[in-house]
Order: sequence, then C-alpha cells, then structure tokens
Amino acid sequence: MNSPTKILFVCLGNICRSPLADTIMCKLIADKYLSEKYEIDSAGILDYHEGEKADYRMRCHADFRGYEITHLSRPVEKSDFDKFDLIFGMDDQNIRDLESLAQNDEQKNKIHRMVDYCKEFNRSSIPDPYYGGDSGFELVIDMLEVACANLLEELEARNL
Ligand code: 4NP
Repeated sequence: MNSPTKILFVCLGNICRSPLADTIMCKLIADKYLSEKYEIDSAGILDYHEGEKADYRMRCHADFRGYEITHLSRPVEKSDFDKFDLIFGMDDQNIRDLESLAQNDEQKNKIHRMVDYCKEFNRSSIPDPYYGGDSGFELVIDMLEVACANLLEELEARNL
C-alpha cells in the first residue's frame, strides 16, 4: 500500500481556522473510510498559543455544527516542510510567512491557498475570525466545509 498523503493546515495562531480545517478534513476522511490514506495535522505561524486548546468561541461554533476540535496549538517547524506533502495556508500573509520558512523550491511548491478550494465564496482568504463576532466563526466553518470537501474530491480524483 502507498504511504499516506500528509496534509498540514496552517493559520496564524493555530487556534481557530487551521485546527477547524484539520477536524473537518479528518471527519470527511473517516466518513469515507479513507483514514489510512491520509495524515492530517495543523500548525500556526505564531508560537504564542502553543499547547492551548482551540479558541473557546471556535470550539463552541464547531461543536454546534458537529465537529469536536481536540487539537492543541503548535507552531510550524522547519521539519514540517519535509514531513508533509501538501501545506495549506488560510490567508496571503500565512502564505508569505510559509514561503519565507521554506528552504528550497521543492518545499515552496508544497504551499497552497485553502481559499482556492472554495471559489464559490468569492473571497480572497479564509478570513481571520479572532477579532470579530459570531458571524465570522460561522463563515469560517461554511468556507472550510466546502474547501475540505473540494480538496478531498480533487485528491481522490487524482489518485485514480
Ligand atoms: P487563527 O486565529 O490564525 O485562525 O488561529 C488567530 C488566533 C490568534 C491570533 C490571531 C488570529 N492572535 O493574534 O493571537
């Protein structure tokens, strides 16, 4: 059997967007009995929240939509660029920060924009909900549900 495809989701603090993407993707994969084909993780550009659970507001909104976020925040490490096959940033600043951490073109080529998988929302990023209200958290869930589904569909189609 092929080794699993390793996917890392990255946002600024690793307490809102990327742990949610991680949780949604794991659920989609488990629901389709594909857990052995993928390894999923998430990390933050900052180490400020290292070891913390996801933001309480994010966990409440996610819980209401059927997702239990159990991830503990961790910063991106240089070794992630070797370990993971695909690395998804949530906004353009995440992408720039990831590109500056990557050490060669092979590593840079692993970096992708999560928003490119939910073009139906006509947004330029998965918006940071941290300083906003409830609607921001709901929007992030709506966008990441679509983006994760489209991403998984594309990965599975490419594997045929
Ligand atoms: P995230 O949200 O990048 O989606 O986890 C944020 C979390 C923390 C901060 C900013 C955004 N912060 O400034 O601490």
